[in-house]
Amino acid sequence: MRLDEPVSGMKTFSLRSPAKLNLALKVLRKRPDGYHNLRTIFERINLWDDLTFHARASGDIRIFCHHPQVPLGPKNLIFRAAQLLQKEFNMRQGVSVHLVKRIPVAAGLAGGSSNAAATLLGLNRLWHLNLSLEQLVEYGKRLGSDVPFFLYNCPWALGENRGDAIQPLNFSIRLWHVLVTPRFKMYTREVFGSLNLQLTKPDDNVNILLRSLKQNDLSKVAKFLSNDLESSILQLRPQLAVVMAKLRACDVLGVAFSGSGPSVFGLCRSRSHAGQISLILRRQYRQVFAVNTM
Ligand code: C5P
Repeated sequence: MRLDEPVSGMKTFSLRSPAKLNLALKVLRKRPDGYHNLRTIFERINLWDDLTFHARASGDIRIFCHHPQVPLGPKNLIFRAAQLLQKEFNMRQGVSVHLVKRIPVAAGLAGGSSNAAATLLGLNRLWHLNLSLEQLVEYGKRLGSDVPFFLYNCPWALGENRGDAIQPLNFSIRLWHVLVTPRFKMYTREVFGSLNLQLTKPDDNVNILLRSLKQNDLSKVAKFLSNDLESSILQLRPQLAVVMAKLRACDVLGVAFSGSGPSVFGLCRSRSHAGQISLILRRQYRQVFAVNTM
């Protein structure tokens, strides 16, 4: 099933909004606009939120969600995505979006960006806008660097420029991970802000990983997991070194942060391996997930 396919009638339908991991993230340089150019490998995983869309005859944009950390107004990327399309196309209609939030908030898993992408796809259908993928991607870029990846409906992609220039990758490999999300937020802006580019290694891990994924070489994938934001994340939250060490002690194949953290994942050999390790880690951490490529 395509992720943007409605599961019920025309006026009300639900979309899945999945999370991502970054298997490699190389920061290349700081740009004049304050962003950083990077190269990253995105993996879509089977941890997802659900968004249900209802058309509203009045022009209001309303978000409904029980999660205490989810803002319901203009700070929410769902709201901003809807407002962007509403203004751009002079839409009189509004929308109600019911959000079931399972992806931890501000955790390096791009839950908010994925919700924005699902909203663009959902409103394209609900409001009959007939926008092409290319047009949706342009709106996605305006909402956030991670938004375009989720518009492509692909499990793997290479992200370049701000991470928003997407090249879908046709890899057949499916990976299992154990994912630990400590219960505090990290802000991407802050992590990039304290990054010292002179301290990042001049490695070629992204290209090596691309080859290893293509060749289904699990041990090589594990060896070359990397994230240039790691030192900055650890500098801001030194206690995360303990989480990494605990994961490593669990006999995973490799460990890395996703995005700007604090989520840490361990690459596992199989579903049962991920399941076993998640049981051990659940004794110490509250948010532990066994996840796979989706
Ligand atoms: O694009 P997004 O709104 O998710 O980015 C949040 C913040 O992360 C930006 O304001 C910027 O400080 C930082 N960032 C960056 N380079 C990127 C992506 C994000 O510096 N490629």
